[in-house]
Amino acid sequence: MSTKQPFLTDIQTLRDRARQHIEQGAVTAGYQADRETVLKLLNEALATEIVCTLRYKRHYYMADGLSASIAAAEFLEHAQQEQQHADWLAERIVQLGGAPNFSPEGLQARSHAEYVEGDTLREMVKEDLIAERIAIDSYREIATYLGDKDPTTRRIMEDILAQEEEHADDMAAILEALPA
Ligand SMILES: [Fe+2]
Ligand SMILES: [Fe+2]
Repeated sequence: MSTKQPFLTDIQTLRDRARQHIEQGAVTAGYQADRETVLKLLNEALATEIVCTLRYKRHYYMADGLSASIAAAEFLEHAQQEQQHADWLAERIVQLGGAPNFSPEGLQARSHAEYVEGDTLREMVKEDLIAERIAIDSYREIATYLGDKDPTTRRIMEDILAQEEEHADDMAAILEALPA
């Protein structure tokens, strides 16, 4: 049996490469993705999560006023989870040597999903469902783009994607139960 592993980099090369550019932290010579593009995509996803957090917060307080307790509880839970997604993204951006963009200026333009207030409970839920469906499509695309080039970022995007799918499912169920 051959001891050669042609598909893996040999240990000495790995060790030598790791010693170069150590100031780049988690970004090693073997990093396969286009870092600038990944950072741009992550910052767009971060903006999306911030906008979604704000929209769900608004809906939570407004639904609370309407005594719509089941919807309000879902809105609050989703707001907290979107905030968590924003934190995961910001953390990854820093790991990749970038800077998370939390600026309110241009936030809506960077975000894929929109901030729509909605006048009625039904409109709020519908807007949340639409925003989730936008996030689902764009996050799936980002995960596919990353492929094997940056498995860690892909996994983060897939974890977030799975929760957005749950959110969409929750909103669809609430919408169905609401009177037209
Ligand atoms: Fe999210
Ligand atoms: Fe979501």
